[in-house]
Amino acid sequence: MSSEEIRKKFLAFFKERGHTIVSSSSLIPDDPSVLLTTAGMQQFKKYYTGEADPMKDFGSKNTASIQKSFRTSDIDEVGDESHLTFFEMLGNFSFGYKPGEPVSPKGGYFKKGAITYAHDFITKEMGLAIDYVSVFEGGDGVPADTESEEIWKSLGVKSIKKFGRTDNFWGPTGNEGPCGPTTEIYINGVEIWNIVFNEYYCKNGKLEKLKTPGVDTGMGLERLVMVSQEKNNIFETDLLQPIMHSIIEIQGDKPIGQIRLIVDHLRAAVFLISDGVLPGKEGRGYIPRRLLRRALTAHYLDVGAGPDKNFFQNPVSIIIDIYKHFYPDLLNNGDRMMSIMQDEVEKYSKILTGTVADLKKLYSRFIGGVDPERLLPNVVVKNNVADIDGSILFRIRETHGVDFEVMKMVMEKWGFSFSERTEKEFDEAYQKHQEKSRAGLEKKFGGHGLILDTGELKAGDEEELKKVTRLHTATHLMQQALRNILGNEVHQAGSDITAERTRFDFTYHRKLTPEEIKKIETEVNEVIARDMPVHFKEMPIEEAKKTGALYFFKEKYPDPVNVYYVGKTIEDAYSKEFCGGPHVTHTREIGRFRILKEEAVGAGVRRIRASVD
Ligand code: GLY
Repeated sequence: MSSEEIRKKFLAFFKERGHTIVSSSSLIPDDPSVLLTTAGMQQFKKYYTGEADPMKDFGSKNTASIQKSFRTSDIDEVGDESHLTFFEMLGNFSFGYKPGEPVSPKGGYFKKGAITYAHDFITKEMGLAIDYVSVFEGGDGVPADTESEEIWKSLGVKSIKKFGRTDNFWGPTGNEGPCGPTTEIYINGVEIWNIVFNEYYCKNGKLEKLKTPGVDTGMGLERLVMVSQEKNNIFETDLLQPIMHSIIEIQGDKPIGQIRLIVDHLRAAVFLISDGVLPGKEGRGYIPRRLLRRALTAHYLDVGAGPDKNFFQNPVSIIIDIYKHFYPDLLNNGDRMMSIMQDEVEKYSKILTGTVADLKKLYSRFIGGVDPERLLPNVVVKNNVADIDGSILFRIRETHGVDFEVMKMVMEKWGFSFSERTEKEFDEAYQKHQEKSRAGLEKKFGGHGLILDTGELKAGDEEELKKVTRLHTATHLMQQALRNILGNEVHQAGSDITAERTRFDFTYHRKLTPEEIKKIETEVNEVIARDMPVHFKEMPIEEAKKTGALYFFKEKYPDPVNVYYVGKTIEDAYSKEFCGGPHVTHTREIGRFRILKEEAVGAGVRRIRASVD
């Protein structure tokens, strides 16, 4: 069965059983407690807690989706037969189950419904044999799940294993959220489907019973396709095989683990960039950059030559081709993605060649002054520990802007691992450097004649300060209006405010239409006209993130941080952002807001200049 048919079969199965099909949410979640979307249930969190009503929004208590998901937790396993960073997750969800409620298409269901659906889908629709299932054996105050065990037995499943909190309890995503015991289905020894019974809400590690329990399931599409197509590993499935071929063409018949790594990382980067996660230095943006750099390092180490600027061209077109029907955004974003990736290859080539040259000098100490690349593949040095002064590695990092893990990959290729001392000294040098740069920043903005210079805001006298303050609040309103009108793909990419204008950079994949610009301007002016109050609240940074306040991932915020919000309360505020101020006290003080210009400043980044009068 093709992956395309499996997707359709899954959605049709649950649709026929009263579930509303919901499309995948973006890899950038609404949920501020996590950087990326890691599970299908994330977009439904508020239905489990009762904050939102599924009947009102979906016309059913049950939904199903195929969710784009990304997890770095398995990144070191990538290269084996079944691990990936990006994957598609098939899931069915049920909210607001009333204990004792019989299973019905649009009503809530719990253990019996969820297990029966999963059993029937796997055995009857897919024609697969369940190897064994696992259930929660109890622990940490949560009782053993004997009910699920009995349900499986009644369905004729004989092999039932029992595990504790580490294996058979799922969630929450981020710091808090719904979670509960799980039951999992294994086929040929591989975990295929995880069925979570969300009975609890976890906050700061403490479990509280949810008012109504719910169901959240997650089944990795790639793994299901693998067992259905009777392949030995996910990379031989129709989803990944064509990408494998395109990399083998470039890479030659080199170690399979490295080829798989390139395939996984490249596919993940394509999906991330398409959803607006642009490669960058910190936060979310660092993830696609890290993936691309790891892929390029693997390529370089096996091919022994720097990557060509168009390295990604063919594999990326193949990825788009495989997924374009289900994720049409990929196609729309194709050219933009390609140019972003070319930029990354160009930047990284210099870093990598410089790093390898420096490491070669170090390496030669360990094998007696011979060029390591010329030794390969004849010399295999195994299990050797390179005990190097960690501060030397830190200098290489500083010189080239390279990550420790890349240096590790290079040395491993040459048969060496770093000693514990080396890693520890590297970490110490890194920490020291971080502290110094923090102290430097404080000194710089300590005030030298200028009334205000925060890097973002600049004002030289009282008059200018007033104007800058009005523009500053207007910028917050504009960011919110941009997100309301264009969607959550919009993230701050930079900003600069003087007395004349605000200049705001943000991620978005295309030019704005004149109608959109007008709409944004109108929305901001409406909020100004409502004369909403502006307040701030000091909060521990983690708590502040949970309020849903926006923050700029490139910025280093103090802890506690101030959250500025426009509205009566932080909960129902129109806009909330981490910010150091200053701001007006009521929005009418801003005056009339005008957008002067909208333009591109780089691939996937737009710039708006606006003024107030
Ligand atoms: N939310 C269930 C899972 O991710 O496995």
